[in-house]
Amino acid sequence: MNKISMTVNGKSVSADAEGRTLLSTYLRDGLGLTGTHVGCDTSQCGACVVHVDGQVVKSCSVLAMDVAGADIRTIEGVAAPDGTLSTLQQAFQDHHGLQCGFCTPGMIMSAAALLEENPKPSEAEIRHYLEGNICRCTGYHNIIKAVMAASGQDVSDMGTIAAE
Ligand code: FES
Ligand code: FES
Repeated sequence: MNKISMTVNGKSVSADAEGRTLLSTYLRDGLGLTGTHVGCDTSQCGACVVHVDGQVVKSCSVLAMDVAGADIRTIEGVAAPDGTLSTLQQAFQDHHGLQCGFCTPGMIMSAAALLEENPKPSEAEIRHYLEGNICRCTGYHNIIKAVMAASGQDVSDMGTIAAE
């Protein structure tokens, strides 16, 4: 075991980790930040997406020791300190962009990165960017709608697919 330190959501942190410890495990088990979900552990589902030095990364695909010293942002760092949801989180809530919520942290982290790169993405651009994030519940439509709404675009003609 080694002490591995990094900055997570603006705070300097450190926790014990083995050389083989994944970043997702370090965040969840080492730091108790269980908002980062693990759906597959094989880099397919996107539930574990976080930002590493501003880049979208599947945290199950990176060793914690390889990002020692990096600046990490997780879903716990997205809302304001008083709990007020970000515009994107609020849009997911308003437009039914989640059902069970398992994929949601990864969806939010990926979509947040997209909006930082491209503040007014088209529907096609959103679908393309979120290709690495799998949702087994929503059919994606309401997620796309939420991202478009968060970017200030008119979604009044998009309809809503009701939760079943
Ligand atoms: S848990 Fe990392 S991509 Fe599925
Ligand atoms: S809301 Fe259930 S997996 Fe996406």
